[in-house]
Amino acid sequence: MSKIVNTAQAAQLLLNGELVALPTETVYGLAACYDDPQAIDAIFTTKGRPNTNPLIVHIHDKEQVHELCTDIPAEAWHLMDTFWPGPLTLVLPAEAHISPKVTAGQQTIAIRMPDHHDFLEVLKLTGKPLAAPSANPSNRISPTSAAMVQNYFPQLAVVDGGVCARGIESTIVGFQNNKLMCYRPGSIPIETIEKQLNMELHDNLSDQMMPGNHLVHYSPNAIVELTTDAFKTLREKHLEPGSVVITQSAKIMPPMAYELMTLSLNGELDVVAKNLYKVLSEADKSNPPRIVVELAPNTGLGVAINNRLYRAAGISPN
Ligand code: TXA
Ligand code: MG
Repeated sequence: MSKIVNTAQAAQLLLNGELVALPTETVYGLAACYDDPQAIDAIFTTKGRPNTNPLIVHIHDKEQVHELCTDIPAEAWHLMDTFWPGPLTLVLPAEAHISPKVTAGQQTIAIRMPDHHDFLEVLKLTGKPLAAPSANPSNRISPTSAAMVQNYFPQLAVVDGGVCARGIESTIVGFQNNKLMCYRPGSIPIETIEKQLNMELHDNLSDQMMPGNHLVHYSPNAIVELTTDAFKTLREKHLEPGSVVITQSAKIMPPMAYELMTLSLNGELDVVAKNLYKVLSEADKSNPPRIVVELAPNTGLGVAINNRLYRAAGISPN
């Protein structure tokens, strides 16, 4: 079984060039020192991640932004002041010294300040920015607990910071020709960011350079089918016995040959987000022939929840 380490041990391992899984408020990250090319290589091999998919670099102090980025627009500082520490990732022009292994050879770098005491503590102790993608094998469901990380990577050192409070990844935004672009919907709703800047966010979700945007992602082994109404699907369709049905809120269903799971009691979107990856991964455990999942209402946090569900099902959300 992988070892649970404390924050001091984690910092030491990272400075020695090893990988450590760290908790954030969104999902667990697979961390390495951003300026250690061998450790960065190890992130890609451990995850089976294509080297065309750039990493997010994490910091604990806004001063570190200057170490990583140049030409930072005033709007970006405003977003940092408003949302950091928190689940907002900014894509900004990269400093020339940044390894192309981190940026996948792009001119930009993605950065964020996570809102988790343990991750911030490790960042302070290493004194270095840490690159960290989600701590799952490429295309699988992101882990929201230390146990989920251990299940994927039995050899890995993990800091156990409990269950992630938000449950889905950060929202990624950047600037292109003075336009505000969204690269991935996430924990902070698009509308909340637009209101802060009084600017419209433009989609850049179809960019195939970003494997996080590839069709199949965040994906269980079972066939995933989406519905807007689980009752209706069950009435109209005969599912294979042993299938799992996941609803947004608790519902009374007639007795049936399927396993019923629910993402929240009353459909609260923050609760749905927090439970989403755990429930999907639990549903997958019995090797069901099919998992039917109800979509969230497509507003606010529901947009990011549905984005992950569409990718779990291999359907384009656009
Ligand atoms: O909440 C999160 O963001 C978590 C925690 C661990 O911080 N991290 C995370 O990392 O989700 P990862 O690697 O699983 O997803 C990062 C996404 C990828 O889809 C990648 O393509 C995109 O960020 N990305 C990284 N650098 C980028 C850049 N320069 N421009 C646009 N997208 C970028
Ligand atoms: Mg990921």
